[in-house]
Amino acid sequence: VYFFLKDTFVTKENAQISILDLGLMRGFGVFDYLRTYKQKPFHLKEHLERLRYSAFHLGLSLPYSFEEIESIVMQLIKKNGLEECGIKLLLTGGISSDHLLPSGEVFFAVFAYPLTPYPSDYYSKGIKTITTSHSRCLPNCKTTQYLPAILSLQQGKKSGALESLYVDSSNNILEATTSNFFAFKEGVLITPPEKDILAGITREVILEICKSHFPIEIRPISIQELPSLQETFITASNKEVMPVIKIDDIQIGQNSIGPLTQEVIKLFLAYTKQEKWPSLNMPRYQASLIER
Ligand SMILES: Cc1ncc(COP(=O)(O)O)c(C=O)c1O
Repeated sequence: VYFFLKDTFVTKENAQISILDLGLMRGFGVFDYLRTYKQKPFHLKEHLERLRYSAFHLGLSLPYSFEEIESIVMQLIKKNGLEECGIKLLLTGGISSDHLLPSGEVFFAVFAYPLTPYPSDYYSKGIKTITTSHSRCLPNCKTTQYLPAILSLQQGKKSGALESLYVDSSNNILEATTSNFFAFKEGVLITPPEKDILAGITREVILEICKSHFPIEIRPISIQELPSLQETFITASNKEVMPVIKIDDIQIGQNSIGPLTQEVIKLFLAYTKQEKWPSLNMPRYQASLIER
């Protein structure tokens, strides 16, 4: 497997990063993750726009143009000869002269590695989640800082939960540690607003493809509402649409995955099989809104 770093393609043995890198020393970095369908990167442009947005908020900038990164990605997919892969774009603050503040030379790497699918019963039976009061720093950005995520996932593991849902101080569910959250209530598809979450590319696809099938509300979902929710699911590039049947001690729906979530899974699968995917409308990430 090849990696791209420091301007060149290297094998795993030579894919090295300095022990003094701020990404390692201080968790100071951003990344983005996407996957391929039929060897085509899924919504690469939107992921690049989000990476640039995340970088901007850390005072970092990408060392290559979008066209150059796209070419690196395509070369890696080819070089690694993978049927389908997960692609990670990583940008850290690089080596710092005072071990704290970035010195200006960023570290950039691209990975393309085989997808590791989740067990099929996660999709056929649904998963259990817990809620957590941990919170993400700069929640609109995809930073490498997954401390709250790892802590709450470790906590959840003890009771068989596979994801944790961040709940804010007003008791509203925001998103999960590595995914976005959706619920059906009285036939309406609901998802929390973008304000305090990472606006997922999968979330945006779901909103787009579901709008002609279900009424949609973008609004806070309070934990008090959990007993009245019909169905819930999470979305992410690596998980696609994953049904959630239990949140803490609350059973959602009928202890099995519901028909509306099944419909969303079907719509999403069909979308991934399209020859082309239209650009998504995600103004937050567009260049005009980021001072350069
Ligand atoms: C905190 C968080 N929210 C949401 C998502 C889902 O984003 P996407 O659909 O773009 O993969 C992720 C992805 O890893 C994430 O880390």
